[in-house]
Amino acid sequence: MTDYAPTPAFTEQAIGQAGLYDEAAADHEAFWAARAREYVTWSTDFDTTLDWSDAPFAKWYVGGQLNAAYNCVDRHVEAGNGDRVAIHAVAASGEDRAITYADLQREVCKAANALESLGVAKGDRVAIYMPMIPEAVVAMLACARIGAPHSVVFGGFSSDALKARIEDGEAKVVITSDGQFRKGKAMPLKDAVDRAVEGTTASKVLVVQRTGIDVAWDDERDVWWHEVVESASDQHEAQPHDSEHPLFILYTSGTTGKPKGILHTTGGYLTQCAYTNAVVHDLHPQSDVYWCTADIGWVTGHSYIVYGPLANGATQVLFEGTPDSPHQGIFWEIVDKYKVSILYTAPTAIRTFMKWGADIPAKYDLSSLRVLGSVGEPINPEAWRWYRDNIGDGTTPIVDTWWQTETGAIMNSPLPGVTELEPGSSQKPIPGISAEILDDEGQPLTEPEKVGYLVLTKPWPAMLRGVWGDPQRYKDTYWSRFGPEYYFAGDGAKYDDKGNIWILGRVDDVMNVSGHRMSTAEIESALVSHPRVAEAAVVGASDETTGQAVVAFVILRQDGAEGGLEGDDLVQELRNHVGQQIGPIAKPRSIMVVDELPKTRSGKIMRRLLKDVAENREIGDVTTLADSSVMNLIKQGMDKPAAD
Ligand code: WTA
Repeated sequence: MTDYAPTPAFTEQAIGQAGLYDEAAADHEAFWAARAREYVTWSTDFDTTLDWSDAPFAKWYVGGQLNAAYNCVDRHVEAGNGDRVAIHAVAASGEDRAITYADLQREVCKAANALESLGVAKGDRVAIYMPMIPEAVVAMLACARIGAPHSVVFGGFSSDALKARIEDGEAKVVITSDGQFRKGKAMPLKDAVDRAVEGTTASKVLVVQRTGIDVAWDDERDVWWHEVVESASDQHEAQPHDSEHPLFILYTSGTTGKPKGILHTTGGYLTQCAYTNAVVHDLHPQSDVYWCTADIGWVTGHSYIVYGPLANGATQVLFEGTPDSPHQGIFWEIVDKYKVSILYTAPTAIRTFMKWGADIPAKYDLSSLRVLGSVGEPINPEAWRWYRDNIGDGTTPIVDTWWQTETGAIMNSPLPGVTELEPGSSQKPIPGISAEILDDEGQPLTEPEKVGYLVLTKPWPAMLRGVWGDPQRYKDTYWSRFGPEYYFAGDGAKYDDKGNIWILGRVDDVMNVSGHRMSTAEIESALVSHPRVAEAAVVGASDETTGQAVVAFVILRQDGAEGGLEGDDLVQELRNHVGQQIGPIAKPRSIMVVDELPKTRSGKIMRRLLKDVAENREIGDVTTLADSSVMNLIKQGMDKPAAD
């Protein structure tokens, strides 16, 4: 036994046991049929587990009917657990509020009634643009209850980004708050919605009063949550929906400038979220206190704050604040105070805590923790060990979970009671999931250390059902690189000599900054929408804390410069412009003004070379470059003191 094998005591109590692998290998569909009946309550049982006849458009649990909100809320109350705390809502100020399952049921019913009174019906889309407050969870569940797919837009996105998502999904209603607390300060939020809804299909804006700051008000369009929701009836009959009824759309970055609306449906998604939350996080709902630190604006918040844990009847912490506010020990103060036993967070946060120093967590009692999780990007072995030693007391299993917005739920991960852990690797597909690594020609690689592409070889219940409004893009992006049998994940990967899979990062033009997916094309198009910019190239340069950082190279337009900003001021203006177009998270770390960009003879920008410059490496092979002197010029410019 090595240090990283599970202890017998952990294994004995673990929900995910080794037998699951055999059961899944014996009969894939029977395995998933059993999970669906184990984790989900169906109003009508399904008759066909998987219909893959119209591949790559899957149908799971055909004939089955269910209500996701009933599964996440009502059934726990009916089972006699109405007094169990569902959510410890911890405000940025430190104030808290315990919301039981019975409370949650009343709130969700009231919100569902209120949304219906605003005209929302089954099938209508509702955009949600909110901070990490319990009303956001209530809003999502109220939509699910009605069967109105939600489209949650991360509260850090700009008004323009929100507008594009409202337009693409043709949302009927937007739910938001007056403002949000950021590092103790009340910041506006609704004003971004006011600008975003102009000229769109959204005819109503439902507003939670969170900060009390002044907001502009349109009497025709705007309604206060505390007026319509609080006065609504707390009784609402949950109607069953088809297993394949759309549950939500969530936008994510791809290789083009236009974000993709990833579509998820109800039965398969809920099954895999609940199953993985049980076997990977080892969630015991009667005794655990669970905390996932993701924002509900990302898929991790959807699957592992809302649908998985609530379907399982978990008690969880929902934190409105950030890791450094009001102080750098706030995460550990929360773990200590609420006796958090399962913590699911991101490598970028762990690396930040490392930087701040181990003496900060050491001040708190973290002995309640028994499972740690990581998600969003590769975790470097050094950060993994730091997490295990300083947060997990050197003994707690860490589950490094690989998955995507598109996969809906965890795909590769150790099982904490079964797997001997390997720091830095998400190891292998969980029971029920099948993956391979293919080379350029689509041949499976089995030898260690050979780098190829990660593919998924069998459909899985929580898989995306398409790209909203664009079936062709769905086929082209995911099911054409290696033919229709293979889902192409867009990640590079390799095996080690123990057969563990190591994810090596994106192979396409998608960057991963602090676990947030961003496309180079999206930021380039934001830059060229500025009147001073003629051309732009963006690369993701490796960064110690954030994984990757956005580095931009721009060529300015010859005209229009008179009297305009120059130098640092111009760079600052361009950064702000990107912030305004997409959101502050997309602002380039640095912008370099250049006279030319390295291009192939056919005119394609050679990002690989720019990446070398951005990462301060020797510049690689320039033989396909149309004019090789360009790189010298850029390199010289880069050696000057940073403009930003
Ligand atoms: C990366 C987040 C290595 C990967 C749930 C993937 C990871 C992209 C891991 C999806 C991990 C996520 N190890 N890489 N454990 N988890 N990734 O859609 O590149 O925001 O393709 O979903 O994040 O990001 P997304």
